[in-house]
Amino acid sequence: NFKTEKKLSLSGPKTISNRNLATLSLAEYDYFKYHPMEEISNWMTQMEKDHPDVMTIVDYGKTYEKRTIKLLKIGLKTDTKKKAVWMDCGIHAREWIAPAFCQYFVKQILQTYKTDTKMEEMMRNMDFYVTPVLNIDGYVYSWKDNTTRLWRKNRSPGPSSGCYGVDLNRNFDSNWGTVGVSFDCNATTYCGTQPISEPEAQAVTYFLGTRIDDFLCFLTIHSYGQLLLVPFGNPNFTASNYDELMEVGQGAAEAIRKVHGQIYRVGSSPDILYPNSGSSRDWARIQGIPMTYTFELRDNGTLGFLLPEDQIQPTCEEAYSGALHIITYTHDKTFNGAIAVTGATLWSMLLAVGVTRVTM
Ligand SMILES: *[C@@H]1O[C@H](CO)[C@@H](O)[C@H](O)[C@H]1NC(C)=O
Ligand SMILES: *[C@@H]1O[C@H](CO)[C@@H](O)[C@H](O)[C@H]1NC(C)=O
Ligand SMILES: *[C@@H]1O[C@H](CO)[C@@H](O)[C@H](O)[C@H]1NC(C)=O
Ligand SMILES: *[C@@H]1O[C@H](CO)[C@@H](O)[C@H](O)[C@H]1NC(C)=O
Ligand SMILES: [Zn+2]
Repeated sequence: NFKTEKKLSLSGPKTISNRNLATLSLAEYDYFKYHPMEEISNWMTQMEKDHPDVMTIVDYGKTYEKRTIKLLKIGLKTDTKKKAVWMDCGIHAREWIAPAFCQYFVKQILQTYKTDTKMEEMMRNMDFYVTPVLNIDGYVYSWKDNTTRLWRKNRSPGPSSGCYGVDLNRNFDSNWGTVGVSFDCNATTYCGTQPISEPEAQAVTYFLGTRIDDFLCFLTIHSYGQLLLVPFGNPNFTASNYDELMEVGQGAAEAIRKVHGQIYRVGSSPDILYPNSGSSRDWARIQGIPMTYTFELRDNGTLGFLLPEDQIQPTCEEAYSGALHIITYTHDKTFNGAIAVTGATLWSMLLAVGVTRVTM
């Protein structure tokens, strides 16, 4: 029962690691180790404190066990209305490399924008919304002991006694419950009693829902399999921009390969993994976010969810390169890249070459 657990950890004596956390500076933070939730929360607070000009923490929901779901909003302050990029990690508890990647991603963009004009331009035109751990209850549970390490779902109790957890990536309102799910509340892919029955899925749905037109890109980070998945999970549906998603995805896979030689495959879930429904990626695409991908990070199945810490750095480096490829493409498509072409010029250019119908 989580209430007892929580009480114990709150009132219990402070451990050595708790004491160290209070004085932990960002300079000492090890991005190439896995961190328990408390350290990740402290890291977020510290990051916001150290970068008040470009970063704010946004609370956007509560988990079943009443933990606050937070994201880091990162971008340069401007007077104009900005576009946005979404990234979430840790929707599945046991995929520890995902939260490690979100933290690395935040560190990298902050380190880069001061000297790199492209990153500076992107941070001026877009805000990055990064959730390091979405399924906090599940993540905390996966750190409990070695019998809970492979927990995937959240921690809400099922409709009958003795079962726990809904697969949050089967709980979104996107062809919910049609394929690749279980209705058995003990199953790892249990999709819940109805779409967005879970507070964590509600948090994402409502937060993004109120500002959906701002978002150009939605990246949700998982492991394992070395895949870049495009919508949709149900094989009866194909994204209207499937060809573009595939082409940009192939570019990202090529960018990934250049870093450490790893092969990532690109395709829809039914084509290269398995059919499924109710994923956040599919929901985001249905809502109209054009560039939506699921990243399945290392490895290829050898160690799976138990990816050793010595692979965190190379995994983050290559995935950063892949994510940046997608984000840069998306940015340049909207903001016309280096050549500033106004709507009016574009229109006269199109008229000049005899284009009469344009799909925007
Ligand atoms: C879990 O940890 C205990 C104590 O360290 C150990 O004896 C046991 O073998 C471990 N079990 C598994 C499944 O790894
Ligand atoms: C789920 O598993 C628990 C523990 O094994 C069991 O007590 C419970 O009856 C199961 N529930 C269902 C609906 O199968
Ligand atoms: C796809 O559509 C067919 C025809 O409507 C239907 O029978 C089938 O169940 C659908 N498949 C999935 C995975 O939803
Ligand atoms: C991973 O496995 C798939 C399927 O067996 C294979 O096509 C791919 O090349 C493998 N990637 C690496 C990096 O080994
Ligand atoms: Zn996953």
